[in-house]
Amino acid sequence: MATPHIAAQLGDFATAVLMPGDPKRAERMAQSILADAKLVTSVRGISGFTGTYAGEGEYRGRPLSVMASGMGMPSIGIYATELFRFFGVERIIRVGTAGGISPMVSVGDVIIGVGAHTTSSMNELRIPGTHFSAVADLKMAAAALAAAGDSPNVYTGTVISSDHFYFPIPGQLDAMVEHGVLGVEMEAASLYAVAAEHGKGALTVLTVSDHLRKKGTDMSSEERETIFQGALKLAVAAAFA
Ligand code: HPA
Repeated sequence: MATPHIAAQLGDFATAVLMPGDPKRAERMAQSILADAKLVTSVRGISGFTGTYAGEGEYRGRPLSVMASGMGMPSIGIYATELFRFFGVERIIRVGTAGGISPMVSVGDVIIGVGAHTTSSMNELRIPGTHFSAVADLKMAAAALAAAGDSPNVYTGTVISSDHFYFPIPGQLDAMVEHGVLGVEMEAASLYAVAAEHGKGALTVLTVSDHLRKKGTDMSSEERETIFQGALKLAVAAAFA
């Protein structure tokens, strides 16, 4: 059954979906890690692919899907809801980028976002009178962390899911640093809430692509792509945990 935003049938998606923001990255990711990747939807240019995991190791040959989320919480909220509710998906792993906030992290590091603060009002509406806790699936986070081994470049902690890319709220960045927030991105809080609503699992694995307090350290798009591969390994472990 097709949904308003996904033109696929039940069974077209694997139970685990890796979800980058960018549709082009979804395509490259599908080409690089899936065998026999089949395009299963491309409504609004948001392409989704299903194949079997082609990487080396114990997960090789297992069904896996890759689909883009687009940017921002409304967008990922729509795709995550339709995948969980109508397409038999059990796990979504967002594989994206973040702006570094904490002095602990640098460009090129990987953040496993175990919890997501948010500037969005989306989660305020979920449980009346309650500040919703947007948290990752612990089993998936543990699997990603285990796959990281003793890498000094992988951090676990909170991120802030922001509605604004270009509008800094005065004082907010300092307060975030003081509260140990590792990075800023734009999707995790919505993904975690939608997963909670449907009793499913979600995780966010982010590569730090720029740093709000360490200027001049941004990555080129080629560097971004290479470093991304490290984050992808952790996401695959979470998909099959
Ligand atoms: N803000 C929001 N999202 C981001 C950023 C940022 O600075 N960098 C990468 N994703």
